[in-house]
Amino acid sequence: MTDRKMAMSIQCALISQIKMLQLLFCLSYFVILSSAVSRENFKTCEQSGFCKRNRAMQPGQSPYIALVDSLQVQANSLNIQLLNKNNNVRLKLEVFGLQDNMFRVKINELSPIKERYEIPVGDSLIEEPKLHNINLSQKDKDKVVFTMDSNKVVMSVEPFRMDIYSNEDPVISINAQGLMKFEHYRKKEEAPPAENEEEKPEGEEKKEEENAAETKTEEEPDMWEETFKTFTDSKPHGPSSVGIDVSFPGFEDVYGIPEHADTMALKTTKTTDPYRLFNLDVFEYELYNPMALYGAVPLMYAHNEMRTVGIFWHNAAETWIDISSNTADKSVFSHIADFVKGNNEIPQTDTHWFSESGVIDIFILLGPTPSNVFKQYARLTGTTPLPPLYSIAYHQCRWNYNDQDDVKSVDANFDKYDLPYDVIWLDIEHTDGKKYFTWAHEKFPHPEEMIKNLSVKGRKLVTIVDPHLKREDGYSVYTDARDKGYLVKNKDGNDYDGWCWPGSSSWPDFTNAEVREWWTGKFSLSEYKGSTPDLIVWNDMNEPSVFNGPEITFHKDVKHMNGFENRDLHNIYGLYVHQATMEGLLRRSGGKERSFVLTRAFFAGSQRHSAVWTGDNIGEWSHLKVSIPMVLSLNLAGITFSGADVGGFFKNPEHELITRWYQTGVFYPFLRAHAHLDTKRREPYLLPEEHMNIIREALRLRYSLLPYWYTLFYQAEQDGLPIFRPLWVDYPKNKEVFRMDDQFLLGSSILAKPITDQGTTNTNVYFPGRHDIWYDIETYEVYDGGVTKNVAAPLDKIPVYQKGGSIIPRKLRPRRSSSLMYQDPFTLIVCLDQQGSAKGELYLDDYHTFQYRNGEYLLREFTFNNNNLSSKNIDPTGQFNTREWIEKIIIVGYPKNPLNISIKNFSGENSKRLDHKYNSEEKSLTIRKPGVNIADVWTITIE
Ligand code: NOJ
Repeated sequence: MTDRKMAMSIQCALISQIKMLQLLFCLSYFVILSSAVSRENFKTCEQSGFCKRNRAMQPGQSPYIALVDSLQVQANSLNIQLLNKNNNVRLKLEVFGLQDNMFRVKINELSPIKERYEIPVGDSLIEEPKLHNINLSQKDKDKVVFTMDSNKVVMSVEPFRMDIYSNEDPVISINAQGLMKFEHYRKKEEAPPAENEEEKPEGEEKKEEENAAETKTEEEPDMWEETFKTFTDSKPHGPSSVGIDVSFPGFEDVYGIPEHADTMALKTTKTTDPYRLFNLDVFEYELYNPMALYGAVPLMYAHNEMRTVGIFWHNAAETWIDISSNTADKSVFSHIADFVKGNNEIPQTDTHWFSESGVIDIFILLGPTPSNVFKQYARLTGTTPLPPLYSIAYHQCRWNYNDQDDVKSVDANFDKYDLPYDVIWLDIEHTDGKKYFTWAHEKFPHPEEMIKNLSVKGRKLVTIVDPHLKREDGYSVYTDARDKGYLVKNKDGNDYDGWCWPGSSSWPDFTNAEVREWWTGKFSLSEYKGSTPDLIVWNDMNEPSVFNGPEITFHKDVKHMNGFENRDLHNIYGLYVHQATMEGLLRRSGGKERSFVLTRAFFAGSQRHSAVWTGDNIGEWSHLKVSIPMVLSLNLAGITFSGADVGGFFKNPEHELITRWYQTGVFYPFLRAHAHLDTKRREPYLLPEEHMNIIREALRLRYSLLPYWYTLFYQAEQDGLPIFRPLWVDYPKNKEVFRMDDQFLLGSSILAKPITDQGTTNTNVYFPGRHDIWYDIETYEVYDGGVTKNVAAPLDKIPVYQKGGSIIPRKLRPRRSSSLMYQDPFTLIVCLDQQGSAKGELYLDDYHTFQYRNGEYLLREFTFNNNNLSSKNIDPTGQFNTREWIEKIIIVGYPKNPLNISIKNFSGENSKRLDHKYNSEEKSLTIRKPGVNIADVWTITIE
């Protein structure tokens, strides 16, 4: 049974409380679900008017011309009018030079009869992007050419297209195929003029008439009303889609645009629907297809051996993206032709983007390296703030832990079986009738005490808070929102009434900052009764999920503030929910403590507020396998703090599968086991001992690497680089790895290829870097880079390697939770490269407050060169007192047993001899008890 079916059956069982009408609805919904395949609940492109209209555009017939006489050039931008020759509608094109090697291209109607939606600055973008000078270098009747540093933009006039060159190489072309379409707002032709319509200023009336006349020929069914299944979309403003093609000459591989259950390298969509971005609650989602899922980041990267570029489509409406592979037009790019000998074709990837409304607003990220594009995108939408340590440890979830005793017993069993965990989660059944911020008192009579029992061991509790509010007069969160006029409205202006877990529900209009402010107050300890500072929050169903809505979400003509419809901003609604939730949690400590929110729906910028998980996956091998490309794509798109439900949400995974899933999951940046209400209990201690022991080892590996994870999260906050990353990020010239998505890097120093196939006991691992070497993290066996090796991987083995040349700090003492490790000593694992050198960083602070932003942290660097290992502070602005010290150093790849090892402190005066042990088989040298504080400056010399 799917979660929705199960929930509906529960709802149906509660009929005594449900009115007759609701009962009828309940039964009919259950019947629909029983017979429906999930696919039928969701539109194909053919079933979506604007998708069909845009996809029907034929290349080479663009009606758009740039009106050179209208060109205006400023220091950082230029604007020019575009004319659609078919209907005489004029558009305004603006191009901005941006700092950090980016352009922004915006196209809007020159004089729209209704304001078109633009995402407010600060919501997806962190701020108004900083401008950079551009220079006009040519303007004639055919072309306008301008430059920004070593980049050049050639704008062709008829038909309008833009070719962007970086150091004379063509990298991105806009409207080169001529698929641009801009459906201007217009008046419905046959709509009779309203009797008492206010008199319009003369010009405006004329404009509307012209618009109506001009578009007569463009009329198509679906433009003014569209029906899907039993749902009719009233489309009060008519057609409003915007679309354009973007080509990447010289590029075969494109990535990004999560969320899809698909490979990391995006596929051509010639024989499928386009990739769809429309936040939806898709239960039991299908794999390897371009259907929409819960979140959307309209960001795509193109990568080849020479460079990486990207585009960010800043539009929150439903969006589809077609992808095809092509060859570049050598006649247009003569520079490319210069390099091509004989008949060699230049590969090119063509993409076609179209959204149901809004404006065309494209950020062009010119790289040229992978880390450059990530930083560029981070400059636009921000990075994930350093999470508190507990949140990157292990989370134990289930729908549902039944009551306080259940929570107590799960907690005790984790201790009994020596399994580390940090956070236990409560799903919707913990509430009183699915009224969030309340407790089912018979099951959870003393929530504060329950939380306290967890917090003494440094553990936390998560409760779920969904955005739908039960429409019940006694429920103050709902009545408060209703009375304040904060609820989303239906097309007639009444509070939208849809069906979700509690039955009849309404949704706060989170797009309104005043509503978000109100929501944040709900998390204060005085308002959220039974909560404590150790309670953190999970936002689910925030696409939003509406069981009786079209495609299980809001009707598109639902009204938000300022007269905008859900159609205009659907994909960003979920971001506003978790943004306000996080703000509420931060306020509880007056902004002192970091906090944690998990969200299912997301948009570009969500990374600033919340972690993301990949929703309702299935406990099957295929879902374990696809979780890797899914989390890779999320990481590429800035959503670094992400993971999939370990074990799979639906169904009962067999022991081998769940064991392998933990071995994979311990590498997801967000690590949580979760299971559906209907599944068998599967906490690790319930599994056969053999499996539990293996899972314990996997969890201990995660915990021992927390100092490395924490350092990576700190670095990612600074530079926006993905933590869980594909190999091409670090090996950008190695074509072999461009599509590899069954193995990955954690930062630069760890390579992993967890087993995701049933019954597998060995696997081929590709070790990247022709000059690199890699060490098995358990046996220290060495592998040369640039080759594929078959390695043994019995059930208790995860193929994981540390890069030669890296130093990774670990904490090896097993503990019950991460906070109990705060003061534990470090072990440095020094893996030497072929030259006998290594280097690594360690970031640390108090692990939970924002004091690091006031300079209370340490950023250390360790280097090993010429038999000297030294530690120094590489960021003098950071100062932090800690008792953490170095207990052990293991130097891997060390050739012989040394005679003498000594340590000197900073002044070089005190020299102390250190104990050591050499393992000649492993070639590992263990140095015992250097006994130095982690903040000390020292050098260890090996003779
Ligand atoms: C759907 C979520 O995806 C799932 O994780 C959760 O358990 C159920 N809703 C119930 O809240």
